[in-house]
Amino acid sequence: MDMTVSFAGLTLDNPIITASGTFGYGVEYMRFGDLGRLGAMVVKGLSLEPRRGNLMPRIAETPAGMLNAIGLQNIGAREFVEKRLPALPWAKTPVIANLYACEAEEFGELAAYLAAQEGIAALEVNISCPNVSEGGILFGQDPRLAARVTEAVKRRAGSKPVIVKLTPNVTDIAAMARAAQDAGADALSLINTLSGMAVDARTRRPRLANVVGGLSGPAIKPVALRCVWQVCQAVKIPVIGIGGIASAEDVLEFILVGATAVQVGTANFIRPDAAFRLVDELPALCATLGVESWDAYRGSLKA
Ligand SMILES: Cc1cc2nc3c(=O)[nH]c(=O)nc-3n(C[C@H](O)[C@H](O)[C@H](O)COP(=O)(O)O)c2cc1C
Repeated sequence: MDMTVSFAGLTLDNPIITASGTFGYGVEYMRFGDLGRLGAMVVKGLSLEPRRGNLMPRIAETPAGMLNAIGLQNIGAREFVEKRLPALPWAKTPVIANLYACEAEEFGELAAYLAAQEGIAALEVNISCPNVSEGGILFGQDPRLAARVTEAVKRRAGSKPVIVKLTPNVTDIAAMARAAQDAGADALSLINTLSGMAVDARTRRPRLANVVGGLSGPAIKPVALRCVWQVCQAVKIPVIGIGGIASAEDVLEFILVGATAVQVGTANFIRPDAAFRLVDELPALCATLGVESWDAYRGSLKA
């Protein structure tokens, strides 16, 4: 079967994309597989200026997933473009820049800089940062703020597609999806991590220095599937599914509920070759299950 998927003007050899923050800047994973075989890769979230992130400990394991409070540590957009991007096989595998800022205008400025780089195929907008001037309300939890960021990025992104990444930490994710679509998003990706915490009964201390963090991995897959399914019913733009994907069967489940492509996150920490293995395993599973084309299979859930 032809594994190619197309959305928002991008064409991917297969639907497997690596998720932001779980695959470094791509270069770190070159020794675990051929980056040229991935559908696409999303690199670690970039801000205009480098950030040091939160205090340690920033990662805690839980029985079915992990908690992180990295605090968006990154080397900054300029350093990424000058020092890391040239080493990536961007002519073969689309490189998607994940960006975040705490003001809509700052998002626009960052989008203009990143969209102007030849090696960057698309922008993924992380709207999980609190808006500073609105008193710390998360962009991703208020449809009005999410629309404002989407418009600011879209205005400065030129011809590069804009993917808006949604948080599940809302009452109605479909409303957020519609707001992003109406503001001009070319595609949506979901979900980001679920808010959570872990504590130690003996030391009476939180396991993360930040106390609260983001839960990811197998624990969140059912939530992610529900969110992707609800959003696919609510919008017309393509949806990229994310959340606990670790096997070829997981990939098909997300496509079955309507996703066009998927991102692999925490699984990269369990096995650094996880995404490459999914690229290898997907064609055989499609053959076994009688999946003959993505167009026929996508969204074909008999609900
Ligand atoms: C350590 C870590 C760092 C992350 N950093 C980012 C980031 O910089 N930007 C972003 O949009 N998402 C970030 N995420 C969220 C993931 O991209 C993904 O949405 C989430 O982990 C759910 O997928 P998973 O269950 O497959 O990991 C991060 C996740 C983890 C675990």
